[in-house]
Amino acid sequence: MAEAAPAPTRSMAVPLTAFAAGAVVALLLGVFGTVHDPTLGGTTTLGFRTVLAMKVAVSCVIGVLAVLQLLGALWLYGKLGRPAPSWLGTAHRVTGATALLLTVFVAYHCLWALGLETGHLPDGEKVPLRTVVHGVLGCAVFGAVVVKVVAVRSRRAPGWFLPLAGGLLFALLVLVVLTSAVWYLNAHGWPSNTYA
Ligand code: HEM
Repeated sequence: MAEAAPAPTRSMAVPLTAFAAGAVVALLLGVFGTVHDPTLGGTTTLGFRTVLAMKVAVSCVIGVLAVLQLLGALWLYGKLGRPAPSWLGTAHRVTGATALLLTVFVAYHCLWALGLETGHLPDGEKVPLRTVVHGVLGCAVFGAVVVKVVAVRSRRAPGWFLPLAGGLLFALLVLVVLTSAVWYLNAHGWPSNTYA
């Protein structure tokens, strides 16, 4: 009879390397966001009236998918008091990949058309704190994506690494949606065509 493969040795090097790589990715995005000249060229409204309306709508979908991801993860970890159905793992991967694609899509439209706004706007107005926080967290989301992908792929990471990486990504994503789409809907209602 074939012997079972030995359990891989757990190593702290995996999370440490993943966090270092994630920090570099987030930093590079932030630097790009400050040096790139914002332009609406190369953007799409997906049939919405403006880029802003498209981002608000897609971000709401991302927010819902993020909550589904959290619930799915809790269920898979047996925290919802009943066993997870066999299809849940696949569903969790599909909604996770969809949320990631949509997040890349919206973030591209932020970074490319607006950039990482800090300091002062061209008209001399100070950039609101909410906008700065939104942009910085938006960049951090992609650092957290790197950490999460390593956590999912690695068999040598400690057991706490995957739930921590997933929780971090979820928290950042929710904060990014709260500081953008949810803030916007609360302040202005559904976007009109007054702003690109
Ligand atoms: C990659 C890093 C990101 C940067 C640098 C960034 C930057 C910005 C900036 C400067 C604005 C304009 C804010 C204002 O006018 O006050 C904005 C708006 C917006 N962003 Fe982002 N963003 C990023 C990622 C994301 C992500 C990941 C999402 C969605 C999950 C998102 C969703 C939105 C939405 C819906 C708006 C429109 C509402 C608003 O004006 O705040 N952004 N972003």
